[in-house]
Amino acid sequence: MDALKAIELRKSTRSYQPKPVEADKIEQLIAAANNAPKAGTLHISVVENTDVLKELNDATLIAMKNSGVEFLMSRAALEGYQPLYGAPVLFLLTAPKDAPYNTATASCAAANITIAATALALGSCYVISPLLGLDGKSELSGKIGIPEGFSPVCGVLVGYSAGEAFSTPKPAAYSVNYCK
Ligand SMILES: Cc1cc2nc3c(=O)[nH]c(=O)nc-3n(C[C@H](O)[C@H](O)[C@H](O)COP(=O)(O)O)c2cc1C
Repeated sequence: MDALKAIELRKSTRSYQPKPVEADKIEQLIAAANNAPKAGTLHISVVENTDVLKELNDATLIAMKNSGVEFLMSRAALEGYQPLYGAPVLFLLTAPKDAPYNTATASCAAANITIAATALALGSCYVISPLLGLDGKSELSGKIGIPEGFSPVCGVLVGYSAGEAFSTPKPAAYSVNYCK
């Protein structure tokens, strides 16, 4: 699949088959992250441990319910809603605490992972919500393998799609102007 087609087809997948993602595909996704524009360093934790994924999912769901943020609370209240959507893999991108541009750098890497996943016939979803579940959870951060002094910036869920559950309508296109 060419890059433009993968970009066009990428969409957020919020329901996954329990089937694991092949190791060679995971390596290709890590390579895609590394081929993104960089301004500073990142650490990528590839989380496949089902107990750790469940612990993070459950902590995130509780944090969403208690967030006081209407959008997050309404998503968390949906029947059957699980913030990690049963994905078999979470790529968690972390950066040195207070590093300048860490959000921008991690988002470039995360976007590459989502596009490469599409090209590999995998579903993906860019996620911020696990940061809520990780907040103040040093033991869970340790289980994931987040390096000392690094903070989570964003994540990408990856796996084989199981359908359209919790899909959202395509947002409006960005406004554009041409300054020639
Ligand atoms: C900064 C950011 C944070 C996001 N966090 C989440 C999240 O925590 N959970 C989720 O399901 N989707 C999350 N998304 C995905 C958006 O909901 C999704 O990209 C948007 O609705 C457009 O849909 P599409 O990706 O299918 O084109 C996030 C997207 C961005 C850019």
